[in-house]
Amino acid sequence: MDKFVIEGGERLAGTVRVGGSKNAVLPLLAATILQKGIYTIGNVPRLRDVNTMIRLVTLLGVRAEWVDKNRLRIDTTGVDNHVAPYEVVKEMRASVLVLGSLIGGMRKATVSYPGGCAIGERPINLHLQGLAALGCEVAIREGYVDVTANALKGGRVVFDAPTVGGTENILMAAVTAKGETVIENAAREPEVIDLVRMLKRMGAKIDGEGSDTITIKGVRSLTPCDYDVIPDRIEAGTFLAACGITRGNIVIEGCVPHHLKAVTDKLREAGMDIIEDGNSLRAAMTKKRPFAIDIKTTPYPGFPTDMQAQTMALMCISKGVSAITETIFENRMMHAAELRRMGADVRVIGNTAIVTGKDMLSGAKVMATDLRASASLIIAGLAAYGTTEVSRIYHIDRGYEAIEEKLKGLGAKISRRKDEGMGS
Ligand code: EPZ
Repeated sequence: MDKFVIEGGERLAGTVRVGGSKNAVLPLLAATILQKGIYTIGNVPRLRDVNTMIRLVTLLGVRAEWVDKNRLRIDTTGVDNHVAPYEVVKEMRASVLVLGSLIGGMRKATVSYPGGCAIGERPINLHLQGLAALGCEVAIREGYVDVTANALKGGRVVFDAPTVGGTENILMAAVTAKGETVIENAAREPEVIDLVRMLKRMGAKIDGEGSDTITIKGVRSLTPCDYDVIPDRIEAGTFLAACGITRGNIVIEGCVPHHLKAVTDKLREAGMDIIEDGNSLRAAMTKKRPFAIDIKTTPYPGFPTDMQAQTMALMCISKGVSAITETIFENRMMHAAELRRMGADVRVIGNTAIVTGKDMLSGAKVMATDLRASASLIIAGLAAYGTTEVSRIYHIDRGYEAIEEKLKGLGAKISRRKDEGMGS
């Protein structure tokens, strides 16, 4: 296993380019199962989760090959298997996104029932209720979700809470269903809109994406297409937090500023200067310490749960007391304990963390527990006095492409080392 070794104290400066969105590319890859043919997907980030999704669709009969650093050629003419096995699904919950495309493309799916993960139990009851509303027969057998959809038809799906994956699965199942489907309380995330955009390019008839009500009129067949993935708004937000904590001055290129408006609004409130400039963000922190701000994570367009841990790291050196409330996942505060090892004053009470800012954090050996917690610890290490070692960084490789190289390009002292202490 690898670790990151970080020497704190460098103020980030320079330009960094964000890659394609992890949470957009995963459903887009699943969607290629909907229609046999050849697709080219561009701006694909080189991530562990992307490799896992490629492994999964390959098991279903897809041929995927990298045609340049961030471009994939996908050939689905040979898709002939509808079983997504436990061995792959247990590695990445987003594997469940092939449920919708297998049903939309093959009218049957057998997908290992995804377990929970570090940040929460993450059930898929809303996905399954939605599929049942489209006439699917759903059974849970020996740890697998078995779905048949001979009579797939449009229907009314009402989510009692917005679900990104649930909305994406219903979209993919509904595009070739007979009749009209309406999804109420749909997720509004940019990644959902990106999936709709590709489905429409394939010939799907969809309206209302980006609002809480999406309407899909089933079509008889679809056409493969070429498509470029939107930029990763969470990667962009992560670099903003790193700039804020190091009193840096950076330009983030290749992003969509309005996709992270809730984040830039909050970081401006914390004292950062952030200017939107086309598809770039210019960010600087001239104050020694940020103002304390309160955060409450909510579905898009609210403050994203995927930026909660990174913002908590920044608040650890604020000039006041910050309340950070996580409303999406029930166990997404594990980074607090590790930040405390770096001298942070963080008290977690239920799903709220009370962060009392300190003048300085101190470097320490800390352990990543999940993807965004890893980012939080790296951000803290960039500003901490001395050396920080972040172990189990396979978590971060799931969602950030070469983050240490990008940070080095901004002047950070960070390197990837073998972690002798952690076995192979
Ligand atoms: C997506 O997960 C993202 N992952 C997550 O990003 C992100 O945090 C999350 O959306 C919220 O924005 C991908 O897109 C691959 P949900 P997803 O269904 O779809 C509950 C990251 O760090 N729920 O919107 O799994 C669920 O337990 C990852 O990049 C049900 O109760 O999230 C959670 O509390 C982490 N029943 C809430 O809804 C269901 O059937 C939101 O989950 C489905 C969800």
